[in-house]
Amino acid sequence: MPELTAAAAAHPNIALIKYWGNRDDALRLPANGSLSMNLGGLETRTRVTFDPALEADHLILNDAVAASGELARVSAFLDTVRQLAGIPHRAGVESWNNFPTGAGIASSAAAFAALSLAASAAAGLDLSEKDLSRLARRGSGSACRSVPGGYVEWLPGSSDLDSYAVSIAPPEHWALADCITVVSAGPKPLGSSQGHRLASSSPFQKARVAGAPRRLAQARRAILSRDFDALAQVIELDSNLMHAVMLTGQPALLYFLPGSIAVMQAVLAWRGEGLPVAYTLDAGPNVHVLCPAAEAESVRQRLARLPGVLRVLVALPGGQARWIHPPA
Ligand code: DP6
Repeated sequence: MPELTAAAAAHPNIALIKYWGNRDDALRLPANGSLSMNLGGLETRTRVTFDPALEADHLILNDAVAASGELARVSAFLDTVRQLAGIPHRAGVESWNNFPTGAGIASSAAAFAALSLAASAAAGLDLSEKDLSRLARRGSGSACRSVPGGYVEWLPGSSDLDSYAVSIAPPEHWALADCITVVSAGPKPLGSSQGHRLASSSPFQKARVAGAPRRLAQARRAILSRDFDALAQVIELDSNLMHAVMLTGQPALLYFLPGSIAVMQAVLAWRGEGLPVAYTLDAGPNVHVLCPAAEAESVRQRLARLPGVLRVLVALPGGQARWIHPPA
């Protein structure tokens, strides 16, 4: 019998133009296209073994047995892989993050990107980057953007077949840094999957979605021409628009903490003084402060002195998801 095991690694990503709300929740077909940067240095490593002797799927996260909700989500994802490969076997999945849990870095993107590569290879499938990105999307929408490398655009598409992500520029195209400013290590009020379902209850979601293609084009242009000022304007606007939708849905989602506000205020003031910095927040209170890599150390030191800041992690653009050989 062939070896039914494989391992892979993937980086998380920070959304510069946000994915918020689905046209189809089950297939994770997004309301709008989005754009992100992979976070180099931070990664999830995952090993998958399909085993005819197993009666149920098992999931170990950072050396501990995972909670039942996490196992159910992974198991449902493995069902998609089993169906594609035509195999019935249950699997053992082990996964490790090299970044702190609770640092406000969305781990589901790296997790499902790594799981897509590992599980598909372990099941004997030989998928293209496009099909790996489509598969990762089924596990977590933003995970489709952690499959290609560098700066990545998720083409929203109109069906399962054409909703996937592509790299628009490799990591070395532009040395930006993400200074991940942690203001809370506690659990979030609500996870993204439930959050997406609330988006359409905000009167602002229609306007946000309608303007997304234009903002995405502006952000893409800014990245391709390495225009930091243009990128700063559009990513802050896009983050504010997503949080406006979150704040005005029913129920409302308020992710900002006092420390988040202090960081956003400081970033605006510093940019006013000529420092190239810009903020963006995903579905949580921690603030991602983008700047040219050459400025990262001084920006990190400034951020660390602000009230409410617990720690600052710095990530440079990361590459594509990759298999790890040998898988052990
Ligand atoms: C705010 O991809 O985590 O980070 O598909 O339900 O797993 P699921 O949601 P997820 O949503 C990410 C939302 C966001 C913005 C973004 O990453 O584009």
